[in-house]
Amino acid sequence: TFFEATCTAPVNIAVVKYWGKRDTTLILPTNSSLSVTLSQDQLHSKTTIRASADFEAQGGDRLWLNGIEESIQSNKRLVACLRETRAQRKAMEQADPALPKIHSWAVHICSENNFPTAAGLASSASGYACLVYTLAKLYQLPLNASDLSMVARQGSGSACRSLFGGFVAWEMGTRDDGLDSRAVQIAPETHWPDLQALICVVSDAKKGTSSTEGMQHTVKTSPLLQHRIKEVVPQRMKDMIAAIHAKDFPRFAELTMQDSNQFHAVCLDTYPPIFYMNDISRAIIRIITEYNRTGIKAAYTYDAGPNAVIYAPKENMPEIYALLNHYFPGAVFDDQLGLRNDPRAVA
Ligand code: DP6
Repeated sequence: TFFEATCTAPVNIAVVKYWGKRDTTLILPTNSSLSVTLSQDQLHSKTTIRASADFEAQGGDRLWLNGIEESIQSNKRLVACLRETRAQRKAMEQADPALPKIHSWAVHICSENNFPTAAGLASSASGYACLVYTLAKLYQLPLNASDLSMVARQGSGSACRSLFGGFVAWEMGTRDDGLDSRAVQIAPETHWPDLQALICVVSDAKKGTSSTEGMQHTVKTSPLLQHRIKEVVPQRMKDMIAAIHAKDFPRFAELTMQDSNQFHAVCLDTYPPIFYMNDISRAIIRIITEYNRTGIKAAYTYDAGPNAVIYAPKENMPEIYALLNHYFPGAVFDDQLGLRNDPRAVA
């Protein structure tokens, strides 16, 4: 006998960036952040987990990522997510003796992304959100998305925001145990259907400095990060939430571009410096800036890699797509339309 669940989870792209941890084990951030969840139609992670009493004899817990087996025990973050969800299941089984005692069964986990891993396309976010969501389905945990976000957070910080669709804040919290560091939905995906995202794949090569490693160098060496944490992000979170509620695109765009710029400035202020953008990334910034000269019609943002994400009202998208293709023929531009959605179970 076995129990099995399969789910998919979306990618999210931050408009107020998370960069820096105050606790690297629980993954507690040094500032709150805010993101937009993208459609699952083109980018998602998909995970199948099976629990069986027979797996103990077959090497215990095992993991396959994009078809290749990886060691589970060396992956502390995955082990933490598994431990947390198993503990919750065990508590349920103790409260209800009729429930099958599957918390002690070994699991086989198969996870895949339909896009390049570690290219700065938020694969850890959708990957860990999907892992935790699938575990919760497998174990039938009665937890809401905010509860699950606290488990996903321990897989990868940005993953906590992929438990919701639409516009999502990760409230940094102040507690040492992390019980107030969780994701909350600011507005659902139906709130602003006119807002769309375009992803420009400048390079799908694996990034040089991982986010995990890079952000702690920044925490240790960048005085600018301290200014960002204390003086900039608290007000920017409020302004961003107000812009989203008001569907004020020029304000949303201005804040998004300013926050991307400051994140990359903080990387440059790290010693030795970290560079995530390349010449093409910077050229795209100049093109969008010029395009916005007579009024803000598009916003760019970059994570820990050279790929651009452009947010714009739907009506401007064909023009922006044509503009970027004109300057970079042959480069791959993935048209990412529509903003959705919560993770879902696959029937
Ligand atoms: C630049 O969530 O990948 O994309 O918590 O160490 O796994 P870990 O880091 P990760 O960092 C994401 C950083 C970012 C900004 C953001 O998504 O907010």
